[in-house]
Order: sequence, then C-alpha cells, then structure tokens
Amino acid sequence: MQKKTSTPYLLLANIGQLLTLQGENAPRRRRALLETGLIEDAAILCGGGKVLATGKQRELLRDPWLKTNRRKVQEFDCERGVVLPGLIDCHTHPVFAEPRLVDFEKRIAGAGYEEIAAAGGGIRSSVAAVRQSSRGELSKKVLAALNAMLEQGTSVVEAKSGYGLTPEDEIKSLEAIRNAARQWPGEVQATLLAAHVVPQEYAGRADEYVRVVCEEIIPLVARKKLAKYVDVFCERGAFTLEQSEKILAAARHHGLDTRAHVCQFTASRLSGLLQHKPASLDHMDCVHVEDISLLAGGDTVAVLLPGANYFLGHKEFPNARGLIDAGVPLALATDYNPGTSPTPSMPFVISLACTHMRMSPAEAIGASTMNAACALHLQDRKGSVEAGKDADLAVFDVKDYREIAYWFGWNRCVEMVVAGQKVKQ
Ligand code: NIG
Ligand code: FE
Repeated sequence: MQKKTSTPYLLLANIGQLLTLQGENAPRRRRALLETGLIEDAAILCGGGKVLATGKQRELLRDPWLKTNRRKVQEFDCERGVVLPGLIDCHTHPVFAEPRLVDFEKRIAGAGYEEIAAAGGGIRSSVAAVRQSSRGELSKKVLAALNAMLEQGTSVVEAKSGYGLTPEDEIKSLEAIRNAARQWPGEVQATLLAAHVVPQEYAGRADEYVRVVCEEIIPLVARKKLAKYVDVFCERGAFTLEQSEKILAAARHHGLDTRAHVCQFTASRLSGLLQHKPASLDHMDCVHVEDISLLAGGDTVAVLLPGANYFLGHKEFPNARGLIDAGVPLALATDYNPGTSPTPSMPFVISLACTHMRMSPAEAIGASTMNAACALHLQDRKGSVEAGKDADLAVFDVKDYREIAYWFGWNRCVEMVVAGQKVKQ
C-alpha cells in the first residue's frame, strides 16, 4: 500500500452510519464511553489532510462552498457502510524477526508462558534473531505489519522496540520503526522498550542492565529523537517495581514520556509508577482493588490487551467492567508481538472485548479511538471525526457499527482514508 497522488478535497458520501465520537478531547469514562456520536445518512468533507465538515449528507450538500467547488472535490461512495475514526493501536511490538513456534507448541502441550520464559524461551528467544537481522530486514517486517494493521482499519500505531536489548540493537530497532513509518501513510509513535527483559548476558546482574538502560540507552535514544516514550515490563521474571521506577524516572529526566507493562501475571501496587505520569499502564489483568480509585482519579489510561489472554489460552480476562464502572479510562490494543499476541487486527480485539470482557460494541469502539488517542497524547488531532481534526477514517462494509464487533476472522474494512487521502483502493 502506497501513498496515492493527493486530491485536494475528498467527499465521503452515502455513509449509512458515521460514528463521529464527537465530544471532549479527553478520556471517556463510565457512560461517556458509550457515546459514539452516531449520525445516519451522513457525509464527510476532507481537505488539506483535515476534516472540514461532517453531518447529514442532505445538509452538507447544501453548503455554498461545496456547491460552487464541486468539480474540485473527489467523491467516494461509501455504499451505505459504516465510517468511524481510523482505529488507534496504542500498544504493539512489531520489531521481531521470526514467529515463536516452539513456545506455541510447548503451550499447546500444557506449559505456561512464565515457565517457558524461565526455561530460556519467551522474549529472550526472540532476541538472537533481531540481533542478527539488519535494520533493512527489520524495517521490512515492521512495514508488513503496519500494512496488515491498515488493511483492518488502523491508521495510528504505537510501536515498541524491545527484542534487541543492547544500545546498538535497540537503536537499530527504533530506526527500523522510523524507516517503516516513513513508507506508511498512517502515523507511528515509537517507544523504547529496552527494559523488556534482562538479557542473557546480564543474567543475575539485573541492576547492571538497568544502569545501562538508564545511563546509556535512554540518553542515546533521546539525543537521536528516536522515541517519544519509554516503556518497561514490570513483572515477576522481568523488572521489579523499584527498577521500573528508576527507568521511568530516567526517561522523564531525558524529556521522554512514559508508559509501562504492569499487572499482567501478578498484582503490583501502582502509586509509585503513577508518580512518573505514565500515559498508560498496560495489561492490567490483576489490579489491586485499592488502586482502582487511584486510576479513576487520574488521566493515565489503562490499556487492555485481550489478544494476549486469548493467545495464551487464559480463562481470565482483564476486569473491564469493574474498571469502566469505577471511572477508569480504558483503551484497547492488539499487543501485536511474537510471544503473546500475533494479531494485527483491532476489529478482532474489539470482538474479544465484547465477548470476553463484557464491553459493549460502542464502548469497545470508544476504547479503540478516542481513548486510545488519549493513551498516546494525540487526542487533539486524532480519535474523533470533527472539523479541524486529521482526516483519518475507516470505512467498513457493514450496515450497523455493532457488526464490527460481531464478525470475527472476517475483515470488513473496505477503505481507509489517511490525512484526507484514500489509501486502500
Ligand atoms: O505485552 N509482556 C511483555 N511483553 C509482551 C510479550 C512479548 C513476548 O512474549 O515476546 C506482551 O505480552
Ligand atoms: Fe506488550
């Protein structure tokens, strides 16, 4: 998929249902997460990469400017389909070289994720291949993943490094993200995840590796402007709370924003991490009840990743209902990675959120658009279809938006508009 020659104005006409997600550019909580800003029989006018106007088609076509300039406007017939803001995948790990089929079969035979990791599989087993790959090879893999995401409705992606685990290999991974992003029509936010796991050569010397991350890798990445965020895997078998806090503090010291993987397998208390103002805390399968009100009182978004629960064969999923009802802002993402969630599909994640976490289709879409934009601090430009915002739109060939959550394993996204340009057909 390539950027097409640009058309100055694009009119999306004949939209059966437009989900605008209009409202405050802030995380939607509780009942506000249900509000899709639905307009039936709608149209959208885009120009200069932005949304210029939205509304009922009948009214929009009466616009005097549109009437006199109709010849300058390319029209796209949405054939009564559903249009919504381009989906935002706010948590992915696309820089890896190979699928992890040995781990996959071990799990099928009954082994657990942490058990496999402790025996030398897991994240560490993806590291050797990334170290051996060139930047160009990795960049090709990242671009292929970004294109697969775009095919299924995603126009903004957060992409982490994390399988290099040396200064050179983490830089190479972030450069691969940057190169792929330059060839992709959507927007990519890069995250340094050098603290994904303690690399083999530092086994038993985790604090020394934390020092390398804080004193070498973070400053280097900040200087080269290769990432906006620093992430850490705060978990038994990865990094302790104390080490994680050191890493987030170093990130902020070097002008980078923070986020963290936490509470995936074991509960950690969150007040220490929250002091570093993370944009998001991700996984959140086992959050301590007392931390729920703490989260509800702040703007840190809890990013739930049910693709990982699905792929690891877990019976339990994050407690989305408890978090939403308490007022915690929630987002959804794929967690695209070779170990726990090899899917590029946000619609599949939306489906899982409905079938396994009792989120309604409206809530799951809000969590994959506006709230996901908030998780990346992009809510002023992304996440809703409103005049002045970036014209990033996903067109689905369904009659009712709830079908996006209903069909699974069937890609119903038929067109993407990114920065006001059609990029699929
Ligand atoms: O988000 N939990 C840590 N990181 C990934 C898994 C990475 C891997 O297994 O390769 C996750 O699930
Ligand atoms: Fe992850």
